[in-house]
Amino acid sequence: MPHELTLLPGDGIGPEVTAATVQVIDAAGVDIAWDRHRVIGATAVERGRPALPPDVVDSIQERGTALKGPVTTPVGQGFTSVNVQLRQRLDLYANVRPATTLHGLDTPFDDVDLIIFRENTEGLYSGIEYFDERLDIADSIARITRRGSERIIRFCFEYARAHDRDHVTLAHKANILKKSSGLFLDVGNEVAAEYPEIAYDDRIIDNLCMQLVDNPQQYDCIVSTNLFGDILSDLTAGLVGGLGVTPGANIGDDLAVFEAVHGSAPDIAGQNVANPTAMIRTAAMMLQHIDEPEAAATIEQALFAMYREGDTLTRDVGGDASTAEFADALSDRVAHDVDL
Ligand code: NAI
Repeated sequence: MPHELTLLPGDGIGPEVTAATVQVIDAAGVDIAWDRHRVIGATAVERGRPALPPDVVDSIQERGTALKGPVTTPVGQGFTSVNVQLRQRLDLYANVRPATTLHGLDTPFDDVDLIIFRENTEGLYSGIEYFDERLDIADSIARITRRGSERIIRFCFEYARAHDRDHVTLAHKANILKKSSGLFLDVGNEVAAEYPEIAYDDRIIDNLCMQLVDNPQQYDCIVSTNLFGDILSDLTAGLVGGLGVTPGANIGDDLAVFEAVHGSAPDIAGQNVANPTAMIRTAAMMLQHIDEPEAAATIEQALFAMYREGDTLTRDVGGDASTAEFADALSDRVAHDVDL
């Protein structure tokens, strides 16, 4: 029986990198019946439909797992981010974003191996916003709840325990945001006490950013609220080769949507130059999730071999291969399991 999964190619470079990814999954021999939805975001709004059409939500709820490309969000106006809507509607509270060194890539640090666990449904992205036109005053409420904090922090500790990781750092701004960040920190301290085998500390977010660009190897699992986690994961992507290589997953108790950290990259869309590595590594995380660990390992090993050799890499990481050339070379390697 094939796996029944939802596929959302998305906007900008989304269709290019998802096509490359599906090609590589096919080469690994995993049988997937994709339910594809191309009409989402601006494409849906232009056709008079909601930015997040109900059939997309239904598809993911029925199938349980989706692979999603990036979706463009208008800045300062227009519809609410489809990404935020999806995460809230499906209660995908844990955004897991690993940043690990790809050997062969020329980056400022060796052996970075850390994971950002970002709370995905509340905080400053709660959608509680007001604008007083008379006074020209805008409010965006950073709602933090005990329940929301506890489940992401517990998710992070449970992940650490299951994956033999031994250090959790909680990132906050509780010196200034005494109520919201203060609650997140209090809950973190309580949950940490239940995991005595895992080292635990906390860092004020600005100090953490400085330490991450100075000595990222000292960090392992980092858990934070929505906005801080979003920014931290782009920062840590920059430590290991950029947005073209860093994967991600949105996980809830019952459903999961796998998507890379990067956005729709309108500056390079349609040029066949985007790096599909982030999306392919995202797919490897998805294959683990749907119990296809061998296919996930084959794809990752083939990818690592390509980076070690460095002959067929895309422009963002110093090569001159197109998206399609990279996908063809990787698919060939995966299909024939050569020199892994
Ligand atoms: P972006 O991540 O799309 O691009 C930032 C920079 O990284 C650009 O120079 C781009 O060319 C480069 N880049 C990103 N992915 C790449 C890849 N795979 N290969 C090579 N280079 C890559 O961020 P930006 O420009 O701020 O956002 C563009 C749009 O994407 C916005 O509408 C934003 O709202 C949306 N977005 C969507 C996300 C999602 O659907 N999960 C996540 C982040 C942004």
